[in-house]
Amino acid sequence: MGLLDGVVAVVTGVANKRSIAWGIAQVFDREGAQLILTYQNERFFENLEKLVPELNRRPEVVELDVVHDESLERLGAWLSEHHPEGIHALVHSIAYAERRDLEGRFLDTSRDGFLVAQNISAYSLIALSRTVVPSMVRAGWGSIIALTHQGSTRVMPNYNVMGAAKASLESSMRYLAYELGRDRIRVNAISAGPVKTLAASGVRGISQALKMTEERAPIPENISTVDVGHAAAFLASPWASHITGNILFVDSGFHILGA
Ligand SMILES: NC(=O)c1ccc[n+]([C@@H]2O[C@H](COP(=O)([O-])OP(=O)(O)OC[C@H]3O[C@@H](n4cnc5c(N)ncnc54)[C@H](O)[C@@H]3O)[C@@H](O)[C@H]2O)c1
Repeated sequence: MGLLDGVVAVVTGVANKRSIAWGIAQVFDREGAQLILTYQNERFFENLEKLVPELNRRPEVVELDVVHDESLERLGAWLSEHHPEGIHALVHSIAYAERRDLEGRFLDTSRDGFLVAQNISAYSLIALSRTVVPSMVRAGWGSIIALTHQGSTRVMPNYNVMGAAKASLESSMRYLAYELGRDRIRVNAISAGPVKTLAASGVRGISQALKMTEERAPIPENISTVDVGHAAAFLASPWASHITGNILFVDSGFHILGA
């Protein structure tokens, strides 16, 4: 028996084997979930095709670019057609900011750069939730999980515009949790410690953040993407049936430090 037997889950954001979403997909697969993996565009499709043979059962794969409403609508229609009984879990593992906004002075953030980061990294949680909620209502329950970082509430050098986007993402998570609870849909976020991924390599100083965890976190070692997968599997499972509106830290305890 797996923790996620019978669960149908949409997992976004697998760019390559280092992606946090890939750690989540591996654990979900191992725990018996039926996976629907989304990819941003053709470039990522090729990476995904190379990875999927590592899973126990072949996932369905669907293109999704969250900046395009038509792409979200296509996903909604695809879910209705291919999963008429609904889906139970959504993992939002998507973020983007222009590289120039992830270094230098926050004061110099451009309007465009700010809006790009908010659109892709925060608004997409609302748009994507709206897309999958009808499927979760059909299924009778749901669990939406977003990936965040402590830079939402504390200053991390160079995280800059992404810190503001993560604050917006976390607030959106709480408003969604408030609205969707009556439909038995839970909405939570996992605040992950630093992991060297494609997205993280855009943030100057990621190596320093990894070193700081090893030197100063209560558990003095860095997390893995599978650690995040375990937390996500718990949140997607019936074991978390009355947990909503939470931020679960998977960061070796770094967030409790004062100085
Ligand atoms: N790596 C870290 O240190 C860290 C720490 C905490 C939180 N996070 C968060 O984890 C999540 C996943 O990031 P990651 O670190 O695994 O990096 P990643 O680069 O592997 O994943 C980011 C994903 O976002 C997707 N994406 C970007 N724009 C998109 C769009 N328009 N439409 C659809 N998908 C789009 C990319 O295709 C990619 O798969 C992000 O929300 C990130 O902020 C990362």
